[in-house]
Parts: sequence; structure tokens; C-alpha cells
Amino acid sequence: MNVADIKAKVKGIFGKEIFLYETVGSTNTVAAELFEKTSEGAVILADGQERGRGRLGRTWISPAGVNIHMSVILRPKTELRDATLITIMAAVACASGLRKATGLDVSIKWPNDLMVSDKKLGGILTDIKTEKGTIIAAIVGIGINVNSNTDTFPQEVNKTATSVKKETGDLSSREEITIAVLIEMDKWYAILQGEDRTMLLSEWKRLTSTLGKKVAVTLGEETLSGVAEAIDGEGRLLLKLPSGEIKRISSGDLTVLR
Ligand code: BTN
Repeated sequence: MNVADIKAKVKGIFGKEIFLYETVGSTNTVAAELFEKTSEGAVILADGQERGRGRLGRTWISPAGVNIHMSVILRPKTELRDATLITIMAAVACASGLRKATGLDVSIKWPNDLMVSDKKLGGILTDIKTEKGTIIAAIVGIGINVNSNTDTFPQEVNKTATSVKKETGDLSSREEITIAVLIEMDKWYAILQGEDRTMLLSEWKRLTSTLGKKVAVTLGEETLSGVAEAIDGEGRLLLKLPSGEIKRISSGDLTVLR
């Protein structure tokens, strides 16, 4: 990874402070440690992670030298109830950046999975720091399988995962994808911070593969099945149960049922 190259091409807040590490535990943890010393938009990149974290306490497989492991420090002026929208914004930025840089038909599975051909190409883990009920920081962790050979991943992960290389047959530049994602994030983060989020929500709807599908959503011990009808202005999923009742869900593990 070449930081000078990324800095030269990413204008706006995400090109100002970029930290590159060889191997870390987790870039989200490093970002939390650097939070006080950095300004909004600081980017932490690592070649590999030894304790990569996924959502819902899962491990994120982070082999050195092949994939993107990045955390971005945001100081959004949003209320706590808008926390899901930060992840929605990041998913739009990643899917758009990946489409531009790789030509792949990347879609979003609610809330934050980056998918190609029904397989997971990447994911987003947002850690929120709050003070007196408001968000003071959001650390948006982004993992993208770029040049990894997912056959080396544990079998149950390999079944559901893919990489840019697996989909295109070619090695891709991690810098180019990182640059494309950060340029898109500059645009979508400004929209999230602005008065009107309609454009962000409609872009998410354009990029998602979840709406209109029969899905099962697991929240802790409970699994609900129904049709993914829409997302609301806070990024919550509107799930229509067989009874006709609509449940609003802010987070959970979603599976598309066939
Ligand atoms: C998921 O889909 O479960 C989220 C995966 C997020 C992985 C990224 S890699 C960079 C950052 N550091 C971490 O430990 N996790 C996120």
C-alpha cells in the first residue's frame, strides 16, 4: 500500500491523515486509541490483522498483504438514533467505490454486507463512542477481500465468501479500491451530515439486494421471518411478518431465504 499515492488522489477530509501499519490486532482498536490525537476523517490502514473483528462478535479473517483493512474516524453531528445511518452511508460508499474500481456488480445486504453473486466480498463494523446520549465518534471499520484466495479460509467461511480476485480472475490494486472508496465516502458523508438524506437513502435502495426478498433476521435469541419491505429514515429495516405486522429492526443478522 502506498500512502503518498492515496493522499495525492483523495481530496477532502479523508486524504489528510492516513496511518499505515503492517500488522495490528484490529484497525478499529488502533483507531479508538488514536481518536484523541487525530482529526475527523483520519484513516487507519493495516496490511494484516491478528484479531480482526466482524459484527456480532465474529472473527474477520485478515491475511497480510492481500486485502483491505481500514478504519475511518468520524465525528458526526448526528443523534444516537441515527447510528445505523452511519453504516448505511459507509455501505453506499464502499459499494459505489468498489463498482467504480472493479466493475463488479456489488450490492448491499442490509445492513452492511458487500455482496457479489450472493457471496460476501466485504463488511463494515461501526463502533460508536457516545457521551451524554450523543455520538461523539464513529469508527467505521471496513474489510474488503481483494486478492485473497478464499479457498484458504475455513470451509464455512469459504462457502459464503468471495474476493475481487475470485470474481474477476485478476489481481487488483488495493490502493485503487481504497482511493475509490474514500472519494465516495467524502461525497456520501457530506450528504449524511447535510439537511436532506433522501439521496443517501435512495442510493442505498438502488444498491441493495435485500428489499422485496423473503428473509430471516436473527436478533440475539430471536429469529423473525418475513419480507424485507423497506428501510426507514433512520436506516432501520421494515420487516413484514406473515401476520401483516411491520417490525422495525435496527440491527441483526439477515439471511435471504430462497
Ligand atoms: C462484518 O461484516 O462482520 C464486519 C467486518 C469488518 C471487518 C473490518 S477489517 C477493518 C476493521 N477492523 C476490524 O477488526 N474489523 C473491521
